[in-house]
Amino acid sequence: MDRIRVRGGKDLHGTVPVSGSKNSSLPILAAALLVDGPVLLRNVPDLKDVDTMCRILRHLGMRYYRHDDKSLFLEVEDHTPRNAPYDLVRTMRASFVVLGPLWARRGQARVSYPGGCILGHRPVDLHLKGLAAIGARLVTEDGYVNIGGEVRGGTVYLGGSQGPTVLGTANVVMAATLGKGTTVLECAAMEPEVEDLCNFLNACGARISGVGGHCLVIEGVERLHGCEYTIIPDRIEAATYLVGALMTNSPVTVDGARPQHLIAVLDALREAGAELKIERNRISNVPTADGKVRSVSITTHPYPGFPTDIQAQFMALMARAEGTSVITERVYPERFMHAAELARLGAQIRREGPSAIVHGTPHLSGAPVMASDLRASASLVLAGLVADGHTDVRRVYHIDRGYERIEAKLAHLGADIERISEG
Ligand code: EPU
Repeated sequence: MDRIRVRGGKDLHGTVPVSGSKNSSLPILAAALLVDGPVLLRNVPDLKDVDTMCRILRHLGMRYYRHDDKSLFLEVEDHTPRNAPYDLVRTMRASFVVLGPLWARRGQARVSYPGGCILGHRPVDLHLKGLAAIGARLVTEDGYVNIGGEVRGGTVYLGGSQGPTVLGTANVVMAATLGKGTTVLECAAMEPEVEDLCNFLNACGARISGVGGHCLVIEGVERLHGCEYTIIPDRIEAATYLVGALMTNSPVTVDGARPQHLIAVLDALREAGAELKIERNRISNVPTADGKVRSVSITTHPYPGFPTDIQAQFMALMARAEGTSVITERVYPERFMHAAELARLGAQIRREGPSAIVHGTPHLSGAPVMASDLRASASLVLAGLVADGHTDVRRVYHIDRGYERIEAKLAHLGADIERISEG
């Protein structure tokens, strides 16, 4: 199992390119199940999660070919497979989004429940509520969801106790694109990744209006055709490098980001003392004379609020800030596994319900730490950049799920970082 070793204290400088969005790619790949004809996706990141989704799609009759220029060709060869088994689905929760497209295009399907997750309880009740509202007949049996019936459209409110659901919205939107009825989806997730999925579907001939808003209207069509489509840049990856730039007070430019997708994060970074220069799709951190970081309290919310996927990295930043900050999770109230690992580096963090209280400290010192999930791993790597000595981040397979060559990108910026393979 590989680990990443970071020796802290190096200044960073230079430009880091942003890869295509993981969380756009995954549902868009699943959406190719709806399409008759070839699909060419550009800017698809080279990530473990993308490989996992491709494996699942192959099982479901898709052929695909990845080109060196980050494009991915997909085409359904066989529309008959309808079964997404536990062994495939349990490796990645996002694979549950094959449910909607399989049902809409193939009439019925059997998809394993995704199972537990380190971020806390992650139910799929809203996915099922939405699909049922537009005509699905659902039966749960042996850990599987069996889906049948006809897509006939309907009106559904998809908000839950933690707000809208990103992949639940994706599942319902995808299913609603085919069929006779019209679907009105209230309290849809507004994340840029959902918008990207809708734009892709419309490029294939779907009729979705209200794209980017909280009410989507989908008029079913008979079939979707293939298209060429470019995935949006990964806002979470971009934000991760900007947090690293501020932590190290370094002149780093993140190239290829969409600043309009990062409003809440840029605002929090500025409040923390960042001087940011924005030129179209390039965001640069300008080092400040004193390099000080101020404490800022944040609360995660669905988009356009502060993203939960940057909470862990922001906590690493706050661990070295001047003063005390309160970090509150409204999306996944249990998503704090990284707090205990950051504490191993000397961070002073106290949990109180859905919040963590972070007392900034001037020094962190390197230690062996364990990555618990993707974003937690990124926060530990960032903390390692400013800790004395070296930090070994174990279980880095988590980071490979969602960050394309993070150690190479950080090394290119001047970080002392290496991957150590342990066979
Ligand atoms: N929820 C329900 N019922 C449901 C679905 C969700 O109660 O049926 C709750 C969840 O438990 C959570 C909240 O609603 O409290 C929001 O969850 P959501 O469904 O929006 O999460 P998701 O769609 O499963 C995606 C991303 C996550 C990201 C969240 C929130 C992908 C592949 N995953 O998950 O990304 O944290 O939205 O923005 O798009 C990551 O990339 O590291 C990651 C975890």
